[in-house]
Amino acid sequence: MTDQPDSAADFQMAFEDSCDRVPVLLIHGFPLSNMLWDPQIADLSDVARLIAPDLRGHGMTDATEPPYTMKLFTEDCATLLDQLGMTWPIVVAGLSMGGYIALDFCRRYPERVGGLILAATRAGADSDEAKKSRDQAAGVAIAEGTDPIAEGMLPKLLAKENYEAQPELVEFVHDMMLETSPDGVVGALAAMRDRPDSTGDLPGLEVPTLILHGADDQLIPVTEAEAMAAAMPRAKLVIVPDAGHLPNLEQPDFFNDAVRDFLEIFYEE
Ligand code: MLT
Repeated sequence: MTDQPDSAADFQMAFEDSCDRVPVLLIHGFPLSNMLWDPQIADLSDVARLIAPDLRGHGMTDATEPPYTMKLFTEDCATLLDQLGMTWPIVVAGLSMGGYIALDFCRRYPERVGGLILAATRAGADSDEAKKSRDQAAGVAIAEGTDPIAEGMLPKLLAKENYEAQPELVEFVHDMMLETSPDGVVGALAAMRDRPDSTGDLPGLEVPTLILHGADDQLIPVTEAEAMAAAMPRAKLVIVPDAGHLPNLEQPDFFNDAVRDFLEIFYEE
């Protein structure tokens, strides 16, 4: 009979656990889901522990009655991190509405943020005109559901060339949008309409920050990303060529390389 060790102290077990990678919270945009991050989850898991929730009312996550707020989305994310036992600082990454939530998260939980990735987003609040458009869109979603919202947004989400040349990508994004419940659409529209202006917070955000923006974004102009980068003490701006509002889907290799380079800081001694 072979001698067996009588306690765990007698031997050492080697193991792999991707939890030892820097944790990155990936927050999707409107009206999308965590499928937005498929190319990042497929490629970056060796350098990051990627946590990609579906926001309330989006994807597979339950909807509750609207309206929602940025605070509610932030608290949902913080609760998820708590439930995962995530007590140390993480990198918070958000695309578009996800960026609005990332900035809200920084305001409420600065001690939990070790780095930021802001993609296709802006720091400012809605103009009066934009607020009116949110209310009109909410009226449409209440009366007719998610479909017309998805139809209206789809051509604006991708760069024109990608919209014409990549029908599979268009269909992927369209299907993702249709998973958003009408309550989710209405709730998120209210949250975006009422979000505060985060511009004044930018100079105080001293964590390493990567700002990524599609050169051909039709929804948020590149100048917004440039202004954020100029206002933040440790921000690096990367413009993604041949990409619109979803640069991580339109140019996944370029986007992932930039994220991979950025995350290196977190492994330096
Ligand atoms: C998004 O992509 O999340 C939204 O279009 C952002 C917005 O409408 O402000």
